[in-house]
Amino acid sequence: MKLQNFIILIIAQLVMGFNDNFTEKELWIEQKLDHFDENETRTWQMRYSESDTFYKPGGPILINVNGEWPLAVKSELCGMFYELVEKFNAYAFQTEHRYYGKSHPVQNLTTENLQYLTMKQALADLAHFVRHQKSSVPGLANSKVIILGCSYAGSIVTYFRKDYPELIDGGWSSCAGLYYRLDYSDALVSVGKSIRKIGGDVCYDQVNHFTKAYLKHKKANDETYTLLQQLNLTVEYNNMDETIATHVQHRNISMFQKICSNITAVDSNDIVEFGLVLQHLRSKIPEVGNKDDIEFSEDHSTRQYFYQTCNEFGNFQSTSSQHQPFGNRKPFSSLIAQCKKEFGPKFTIDYINKKVDEINALYGGTQPNVDHIYFTKAEDDPWRWAGIVDECATVIPGIAHCHDLRARSPNDPPALAAAKQKGFELIESWINGGGTTRETLTKC
Ligand SMILES: *[C@@H]1O[C@H](CO)[C@@H](O)[C@H](O)[C@H]1NC(C)=O
Ligand SMILES: *[C@@H]1O[C@H](CO)[C@@H](O)[C@H](O)[C@H]1NC(C)=O
Ligand SMILES: *[C@@H]1O[C@H](CO)[C@@H](O)[C@H](O)[C@H]1NC(C)=O
Ligand SMILES: *[C@@H]1O[C@H](CO)[C@@H](O)[C@H](O)[C@H]1NC(C)=O
Ligand SMILES: *[C@@H]1O[C@H](CO)[C@@H](O)[C@H](O)[C@H]1NC(C)=O
Ligand SMILES: *[C@@H]1O[C@H](CO)[C@@H](O)[C@H](O)[C@H]1NC(C)=O
Repeated sequence: MKLQNFIILIIAQLVMGFNDNFTEKELWIEQKLDHFDENETRTWQMRYSESDTFYKPGGPILINVNGEWPLAVKSELCGMFYELVEKFNAYAFQTEHRYYGKSHPVQNLTTENLQYLTMKQALADLAHFVRHQKSSVPGLANSKVIILGCSYAGSIVTYFRKDYPELIDGGWSSCAGLYYRLDYSDALVSVGKSIRKIGGDVCYDQVNHFTKAYLKHKKANDETYTLLQQLNLTVEYNNMDETIATHVQHRNISMFQKICSNITAVDSNDIVEFGLVLQHLRSKIPEVGNKDDIEFSEDHSTRQYFYQTCNEFGNFQSTSSQHQPFGNRKPFSSLIAQCKKEFGPKFTIDYINKKVDEINALYGGTQPNVDHIYFTKAEDDPWRWAGIVDECATVIPGIAHCHDLRARSPNDPPALAAAKQKGFELIESWINGGGTTRETLTKC
């Protein structure tokens, strides 16, 4: 069974047509395997990118932090980063998270080897990175440091300000998960609501209808089910929640409306045709590996992220609620049981519960109480309900997960344009040493 991983970003394949003069160098920095054990002397090479194309002496350091995906230079997903670099004549870096992309602290992904994959270690990697660049690149010693990140990387930006406030003057945390619980069934409830809101009752009802029809044929193991098996469509139906949720999370409203047109165009008796629509939709999602892949592969992240889910984050996106259109095909108990299966007997529900409580107690959950961070959320993003309280964020309608960190465009709806503008202005004030206005001091 492939694992639910709809948190994972759709990686932009296209290199954007940003300023051609801009060059980003791929470089490596030595990091400790374990920052918290003085007796552990092993080290590894972390990948990052660097650019001084727009840098002018006195300019700030701008870092785009990556999360559970490979570092991608000139990706349209971080268009805002490039705009900020140019506008503020910044020295630019992007960092890759340990265990993802090409940043391999260990040889493979056995449970034993995964023990150094923790958010605390990743935060310490970033701290060493900032200290190292400030001390080794001439002129950067006193530069202001601004850090951007979205999704899991947005959580890192937030916690970096809490754990290492002396190393970051301001940050933009987009669509970050900050509240951890065991059963995050609200994610698929939210997906259902978004389907209804964007595609109408007719789209929601159609998804619900084919869920029921499929589960009925599967249970009966009848001719229709055999036909679906022969056509390789059972895999599409089994992954249906993840496929549709991924599109809800990552596509803007007009794209998802088109998807709903395809969904609703299918005759309600044509279970094969609906399977083909699902197949088409799944083909648009990048392959990010399986939870049992022991070997590293640059664009595989499922196993690593699943480990973090079992060891730190919880937030299992179960189908435990009835208020969603995918049936109860992924009950919470079956999802959590996979932690033990993949990583060993230690990963019981009690263990995960304890870890989730710890991280909430440490960082404050939906109220992290941190200053100099600009929080944005996407209104229809299933991760909204694991984020900071809405009152402390700019909640942007009409966009998908992380889209506020794309470049500004004349097509941006007014609320999106205003949210981006606010981010620009806050960053400008932090670069200029601001921090006394109410906006920048607000702690949430
Ligand atoms: C690239 O650099 C050249 C030479 O400095 C300059 O003339 C040109 O305007 C730059 N292009 C852009 C898009 O900034
Ligand atoms: C490191 O080794 C020393 C000497 O063997 C020991 O006293 C100390 O407790 C060790 N530290 C850790 C964090 O294990
Ligand atoms: C995983 O890596 C370790 C070294 O860290 C090695 O001893 C072990 O054989 C590897 N296991 C697999 C299944 O490749
Ligand atoms: C189903 O998948 C198998 C294995 O990937 C492949 O060999 C077969 O041709 C596929 N069948 C159809 C009808 O696509
Ligand atoms: C929505 O996404 C599509 C495909 O990525 C893009 O062509 C379109 O411009 C986007 N619309 C808005 C309003 O951003
Ligand atoms: C709708 O379905 C058609 C035919 O399969 C496909 O070409 C098109 O890309 C689909 N549209 C979307 C938004 O997925």
